[in-house]
Amino acid sequence: MTNSSSERGVGLGMPQLPAPAYPDDVRARLERDAREIIDRYPDSRSALLPMLHLVQSEEGHVTRTGMQFCADMLDLTTAEVTAVATFYTMYRRKPSGDYQVGVCTNTLCAVMGGDAIFSALQEHLGVGNGETTGDGKVTLEHIECNAACDFAPVVMVNWEFFDDQTPESAKRMVDDLRAGRQVEPTRGAPLCTFKETARMLAGFPDERDGAVEATGGAGPASLVGLRLAKGETPAARVVHPRHGGPHDEPQDAVQDTSAPDHPSPNRTSDSAGPVDEEGQ
Ligand code: FES
Repeated sequence: MTNSSSERGVGLGMPQLPAPAYPDDVRARLERDAREIIDRYPDSRSALLPMLHLVQSEEGHVTRTGMQFCADMLDLTTAEVTAVATFYTMYRRKPSGDYQVGVCTNTLCAVMGGDAIFSALQEHLGVGNGETTGDGKVTLEHIECNAACDFAPVVMVNWEFFDDQTPESAKRMVDDLRAGRQVEPTRGAPLCTFKETARMLAGFPDERDGAVEATGGAGPASLVGLRLAKGETPAARVVHPRHGGPHDEPQDAVQDTSAPDHPSPNRTSDSAGPVDEEGQ
């Protein structure tokens, strides 16, 4: 009779330690980079998150060798490093593809088509959530809200945005990635591989020509709320879902979106009855 989880073949996702060492030349190079990262912080243990990105940039995921390296450099226990590396979803714990294709299936994206995109990609690529295509190019995964709801449904590839996607556009995009064709995000810097992205997340500069300039800022749709909060009243084209049409006049005022049965909490009790179509 066996009792331990390993004897029963139950994996707990924990790394086996001690780990094999990096080759000497790799270790020397990573130590130089690690010291540069550690010097940015008053307390060396604060460097753990970028250090995990650094080791991820070396092997494409956080290996037990990478965790041992972080522990050595930061004077932490491997248990402390493991606790952090297994908590955050940006750290991959198994070999994965050059392109991490994350489909947002959080509430808004899901209802706007994210669920359909994820299903279409699963079928098209023949992989499930967290799985990688046989050519090692694409890893598909569900992701949570990426604060780009105004461009829903959103797909992220190596953390670059692909806005307003459809099942067809997403399938074309992964086909291009697998074929080695150039793929451009909707906004942000040009796409690079997961390892290259991990190095930037470790805090090293993107040295490609024009990459920094291309990074840009938030899209216009994202900034509407900020402009309103600053007192501006930009001409917003708000189309009522029941009465609106392509020939409606633009409306300049902020629209009251309270549901008739759930008046805004800012209303007085006297006026808390059902609102009409103009929000009165
Ligand atoms: S719900 Fe998808 S980006 Fe917010």
